[in-house]
Formats: sequence, structure tokens, C-alpha cells
Amino acid sequence: MSNPATPPGVDLLDQRPELTFPPDFLWGAATAAYQIEGAATEGGRTASIWDTFSHTEGRTVAGHTGDVACDHYHRMPADVRLMAELGLRSYRFSVSWPRVQPGGSGPANQEGLDFYRRLVDELHAHGIEPWVTLYHWDLPQELEDAGGWPARDTASRFADYAALVHDALGDRVRYWTTLNEPWCSAFLGYGSGAHAPGRSAGVEAVRAGHHLMLGHGLATQALRAGRHAAEVGVTLNLYPVTPASDSPDDADAARRIDGLANRFFLDPILRGRYPDDLVADLRLVSDFGHVRDEDLEIISSPLDLVGVNYYSRHVVAAPVEGTAPEKYWRAPSCWPGSESVRFVTRGVPVTDMDWEIDAPGLVETLRRVHEEYTDLPLYVTENGSAFVDAVVDGRVDDPDRLAYFDAHLRAAHEAISAGVPLRGYFAWSLMDNFEWAWGFTKRFGMVYVDYDSQLRVPKSSARWYAEVIRRNGLAA
Ligand code: NOJ
Repeated sequence: MSNPATPPGVDLLDQRPELTFPPDFLWGAATAAYQIEGAATEGGRTASIWDTFSHTEGRTVAGHTGDVACDHYHRMPADVRLMAELGLRSYRFSVSWPRVQPGGSGPANQEGLDFYRRLVDELHAHGIEPWVTLYHWDLPQELEDAGGWPARDTASRFADYAALVHDALGDRVRYWTTLNEPWCSAFLGYGSGAHAPGRSAGVEAVRAGHHLMLGHGLATQALRAGRHAAEVGVTLNLYPVTPASDSPDDADAARRIDGLANRFFLDPILRGRYPDDLVADLRLVSDFGHVRDEDLEIISSPLDLVGVNYYSRHVVAAPVEGTAPEKYWRAPSCWPGSESVRFVTRGVPVTDMDWEIDAPGLVETLRRVHEEYTDLPLYVTENGSAFVDAVVDGRVDDPDRLAYFDAHLRAAHEAISAGVPLRGYFAWSLMDNFEWAWGFTKRFGMVYVDYDSQLRVPKSSARWYAEVIRRNGLAA
């Protein structure tokens, strides 16, 4: 790294690391194609729903788009060198569907595949394990025009695309994630409209959620049928949902939101059925007529691992008359059938996203997935925080982000001690990037990106994380 000065947080590690992680623990960082690549019209890439959405007035803060983003498409070798300098053992990235299969159907675009082959080769050359996410929200616009995720056919298109990428990269990529955070694709994309494609209808969100999971199941089968071995999983954004009080009404509010946020995906994928109470809660929104007999068996195709993205907790209460609607992921339209449940803020410290910092929630979440759903290996495929950063004398000190990572890694360790087969942890994110509807106004990176010069500056949290990886642990 260009600036080897010791950041304040590294002092914390100057004792014997007593919280040691398992020897082969996979330490990594994550990104997603639309958030970092740029080169939106180069190399045969066509538009995704995020290109269309971000170019539509009023959809993203200040009209920001991913046209250039971190320009990673052109700076990939240097970015991989940076990962190596940080000591990353693994790098989780997503493949841009419209880059490798323009329009979302038909033959592959070799130029697009070549970019990812070069990336994977570069990673291997630096001893970094590549981890591919097939879908991180950039649906080809043509498929949206044909109905998007509410249309059943999109699931089959996704399986074809998955097979095509696996065929091209499967000889050098072991870990595969089908979908990243299908809740966001379904309920932010088609429920509240805060994300692309910006549609807003509960019934469509429910259909989208189902077809995303069907696509996941079909893609899992396609990868298994391919000519290369693959460890296949899915990444879900999960939250503990806590009632604001011990009143039965608040408990019921928590049950409903847990159903929509967590069990909507966990139960079909890991148990092969929708929860009865969720179906009942949604009865005025959807009759589930889009679900065919064979679907749940496909959706619950056996997996090799489960990825958990963890950021915060939801605390909820029963509706009261006259509650003002809230914004973004609390927007009533994200919660069809339970629109009037109130999200409660507890007054605990929050990140720049206004998300409450709650490290014990990570322990709860991991334990729940393991104890209630599966013995499969678990990975934290994302965890991190946005804070306001500034470059001062060429350095970026981010003690709040460092403390967030520290607290959540302690939580991850606690989960392992409690018997959770947690096999790895990916910080979100390697570098600042396009934070969806927030554009470039929220910084999640361990590496600061100056978007004018494209200069990368590792923040103090990055140097601290490098030290954690080197020691494979934290001081007690
Ligand atoms: C989840 C998403 O997977 C990622 O794309 C996003 O930037 C982070 N959370 C932070 O919101």
C-alpha cells in the first residue's frame, strides 16, 4: 500500500489475538457489477434496468448513474493489486448479465465473458479466491420490457444465463451465488419502486419474489448439470425482527414483518414451502395463483452453502391511527399486506444510512438460520456501514466504520463459538461505489474513491482489516 502508517484501530490488535477464527476462514470483500464497473455502453454491453432507472429523472439522488462509477472495468488489474495488498483471501463480485448476454437471451458476448475471465485469472495470480454472484440486480432491460421478474419466463432466462456463465468460468471459479438479496429485487424494485425498475404494486412484488426464487432453483440445477463442479448458494438479506413491546399486537406485527422480510425466502428455499401465516397475511394482495405445483421442489433444490447479508435489525410495533408513512425500506409499499405496521427507531447509534448499529443481531441471525433452517456452511456475504468520509493529508480515518467491523466480527466469532458453521466473512464493500438510489452520496468502502480522479485511498478500516486477516483474529 502507498501509505503504510498505522491507523488508530490497529493498536487494538497489538495484544495476542484471542478471538482466533478457524484456520481456513475465508476473509474477503464484496462488490457488485453495476456499482463499480462503469463502461456502461462498452464491450457489447446493453442496458440493464439500473441504466434505465438511473437515467430517469428523479429516481436517484442528484441523478447519479453507474455510467462510470469506479471505472473498475478499465482499472481492474490495479484494483486486484489493491485487494492483494489488503491481504484478501477472497473477492466476491457480480457478473453483469447485459455484459455477457446482451438483451438477456441468446448467445454469449465473448468480450463480456473475457473481462470476467481476465478478472478471475488476475485474482488467482494473486492467490485470491473468486466468488461469483450471478444476479446483483442488473436485469437486462429487454427482459424487463417483456415483463421482468413478475413474468415467469424471466426465471428460465436466468437459468440459461447462469449456465452460460458457468460454462465459461466454471473451470476456475468454485463458489457461486445465484441471487443477491432477492427481497430488494422484489419489494424495492416492484413494491415500493425505490429501486429499478421502479414499479409499485404489491401483487407484482409477490410474483417477482416467487420468480426470483424459481430462477434461483433452475439456475442451481443448471449449474449442477454443467461440466464443472460448483459450490452453489444464495445470498439473503436477513434481519432479526423484534417487537417494540411485549404486547401481543406488537408480537403480531413482528411476525408479519419477519414473514415478508425473512421467511418469504428462507422457507421456500430451505424448507420447500411458503409459511401458512405469510400466505394468509398476503391474501388480499395475491392469491399465489402464479405458484405451480412443481415450483417449490425446484426452489428448494439442494444447496452447498447459504450467504447472509447483515446490516441491521427491524424493530416494529402494531399500527396506530394516523402514523406518518416512512421512507425507503420502511415505506408501506415495501410491506404488502402489512403496510400499516410501524417501524420503530430506538435512538441507538445509526450509520449514514440511518440504519441502527446492532452487532448482536448478527449473532441472532446466524444462529437462527443454523438452528431453525439448515446445517449447511454459512457465509456472511456482506456486512458493513456507510459513514461520511474525508481525505485529510492524503489519509482517510474512519473510526466509526472500523468500530462497526470490529463489533460485527466479534459477533461472527460469537456465532462460531455457539456452534454456527460460519466459514467466511465478506466486508461490504471493497471500495466506495454507486449506492443504488443514493448514488455516490453514501460511502460503504474500506477504500475511498475520489470519483473525479478515480484515485483509491485505503481508509484506516482497510488497514485494520488487513491486520485482522493477517492475524486471523481479533484481540480479546
Ligand atoms: C446490500 C446490497 O447487496 C449492496 O449492493 C448494497 O450496496 C449494500 N447492501 C448497502 O446498501
